[in-house]
Amino acid sequence: MRSVAFAACLFCATTASAADTNIYHAGPSSPLASTRQAWIDLNKNEKKDAYEDPSRPVAKRVDDLLKRMTLDEKIGQLWQVNYDTNADKTFAEKLKRGAIGSFLDSSALIENPVMRNKLQHIAVEQSRLGIPLILGHDVIHGFRTVFPIPLAEACAWEPVLFERTQTIAAREAAAAGIDWTFAPMVDLARDPRWGRIAEGFGEDPWLGALAAAASVRGFQGTNVADPDRVVACLKHFAGYGAAEGGRDYNTTEISEFTLRNFYLPQFKAGLDAGALTVMSAFNDLSGMPASGNRHTLTEILRGEWHFPGYVISDWAAVGELVDHGVAANDADAARLGLTSGVDMEMVSTTYPDTLAQQIKTGKISEKVLDEAVRRVLTVKFEKGLFDHPYADETRCRTAFLRPDAIALAREAAAKSCVLLKNENGVLPISKETKTIALIGPFAEDAEELAGPWSSRGHADDIVSLAAGIRAKLSAVTQLTVVRGCSIIERDSGKPRRHIADSTKITERPTGASEIADAIAVARAADVVVMALGEPRNWSGEDGSRSTLGLSGRQQELFGAVAATGKPVIVILFSGRPLAVPEIQNKAAAILEAWFPGVQGGNGVADVLFGDVNPAGRLTTTFPNSVGQVPVYYNHFSTGRPGTGEYKGNYADGPTAPLYPFGFGLTYTKFDYGKVRLDSPMVKPAGKLVAHLMLTNTGSRAGTETVQLYIRAIAASAGTRPVHELKGFQKILLQPGESRDVTFNLSADDLGYYDTRGNWLVEPGKYQLWLAKDSASGQPAGFELVK
Ligand code: BGC
Repeated sequence: MRSVAFAACLFCATTASAADTNIYHAGPSSPLASTRQAWIDLNKNEKKDAYEDPSRPVAKRVDDLLKRMTLDEKIGQLWQVNYDTNADKTFAEKLKRGAIGSFLDSSALIENPVMRNKLQHIAVEQSRLGIPLILGHDVIHGFRTVFPIPLAEACAWEPVLFERTQTIAAREAAAAGIDWTFAPMVDLARDPRWGRIAEGFGEDPWLGALAAAASVRGFQGTNVADPDRVVACLKHFAGYGAAEGGRDYNTTEISEFTLRNFYLPQFKAGLDAGALTVMSAFNDLSGMPASGNRHTLTEILRGEWHFPGYVISDWAAVGELVDHGVAANDADAARLGLTSGVDMEMVSTTYPDTLAQQIKTGKISEKVLDEAVRRVLTVKFEKGLFDHPYADETRCRTAFLRPDAIALAREAAAKSCVLLKNENGVLPISKETKTIALIGPFAEDAEELAGPWSSRGHADDIVSLAAGIRAKLSAVTQLTVVRGCSIIERDSGKPRRHIADSTKITERPTGASEIADAIAVARAADVVVMALGEPRNWSGEDGSRSTLGLSGRQQELFGAVAATGKPVIVILFSGRPLAVPEIQNKAAAILEAWFPGVQGGNGVADVLFGDVNPAGRLTTTFPNSVGQVPVYYNHFSTGRPGTGEYKGNYADGPTAPLYPFGFGLTYTKFDYGKVRLDSPMVKPAGKLVAHLMLTNTGSRAGTETVQLYIRAIAASAGTRPVHELKGFQKILLQPGESRDVTFNLSADDLGYYDTRGNWLVEPGKYQLWLAKDSASGQPAGFELVK
């Protein structure tokens, strides 16, 4: 009797018969959802059991449910499967047995929740206990509204921008039936050869921590059960960004001291902001793969940080413990994964294949399993999936690319731009210019602007640079656009792929006269803009590079155009810092636009024509050459830092980077006065107050990002970096305007971790800079007294 009555009720989202008046499905679309307490008879026994009762505390609901579960049902909760358009058929039998806890949509082909709901209906209505699935997907920088890549957005030095963009990303993804995003990626990266540098926030743990927390707030909001929110996942725990040689998936060797002070703070900040899940990484971390690493996954994450959520492995990373050579077979891998702290296995099948037997034979204690299941269930309850398992299938019709999303995408694209050079004020371009030549393979290629991991971005939603520039110009300006060369030459590296379906792009090879045509167009123009860069899929996962220049024949194209003697404005599209000293030498202006997303052309044009003043600052150092890598601002001092003959400099090229961390120009000039301290002594409970008189000495308004760096002169538990970012302020000043910029620093801002994770704030001497980037300014000394 019950299955018919309840199934009907669940499908049509209306109240059931009089006898069941308090049993109904109140999905987000139900008008009843907000007005009355819903509960679903998940185990179909016609009574409201504790786990079905939304008024009970989550912990009690989990306890009750766990007690009812068989061994196989528990293991099922720990397995995540990739789904496709046939999944309701392929996985029906497993779903009915409760053998799957979660699906992920890795293909990103799915834009509506229809399949998700079909799978959920089977899990909820046709399995014994009706435990809902949780559906995950990589929503990295937008869903359908593609925002700039995270590395770009980090350059806005405005953490709340992440909160705003990820709020919209969550709204769109949730409308497509996604409950959980595998983001933010908070891996610190110091090596631009590593393609996933694009997905993170750069090389600074302090700034990265702010971005991580803001991203989590954006995805999860204040109530993750809100149908517009998704569960966040901090990844990749831990150390993935330190891949040797910048080669993806490669070994990392990180001391405990460096791990604690550089690679972990972003995770901690994300957890403090409430992130409910964490993903274990692919890499070997100092001799033990991160997905079998008890030290990081259990001792630190659970033991020290008391993380209550669950850990999912990266894709097949538990199965790969065999390839790493720390597990002899799948059973070993599953045991190592689970007992180290990986609760849910993504895609590989070692948990479903081997855990039951290992628990029955006592090789793994059922307590360990129960703990993992408890964590998974807790998050599912927190997300509200037991009470609202289905996604509204109508919302996706109107959820994407809404005007507020488009406006924010444009704002973010403009704010992400970093002006790297601007000789003789060639930028901004006057809208009255008579002829503009726009040259380069990125001029009209909209698709590339999406960048890697662009989720459900559509190529035809994206505004190209040419379109963005065209929209700025009046009828008097003649804009001539020529490609000049292709983005990659045939067989010159990883082929480019379409964002829609990942099929290979067959590129028109560079024509015999294309470079000559570009030269002619440049000669005839008043202003020459070049759109250059690297293919979007040369960054992101498995997007490592061994060189850091422009791809294909773009360098040759640039050289030929620059040789005309015309001042050349270069716009760079890239997912990483490029080593382009020749462009720095020869271009009149350089604007790093990264991969700016769906409104890229408009956002970049806003900056080019001065409707938005460039205010971005680098969060990652640009090397002069690949040989300098890794090069980052917050390094330790050598014993021979600057004087004397033996300094450790390169014999055959510069040691200093092309552009330092924090670097970025504006369309005006700022004068930095001397740093003034209210007092050079600060007590542990007190504050150091530092001032700087900042003056806009140029003729345009502009936003300056004043950066506060410190250095500890002597530390007892380990070496401290030569510079550490501890504060910044973005100050908008009109021409001629001055402002006393004041920073308050607390003793806690001076702290660091010892190798056991203790936070130390040590009395002693320090230096402080208030500067425009990490390589500028004069320090003021102060002392932290006992
Ligand atoms: C990536 C993760 C991603 C996962 C699921 C893996 O290959 O490393 O970052 O979340 O796939 O798509």
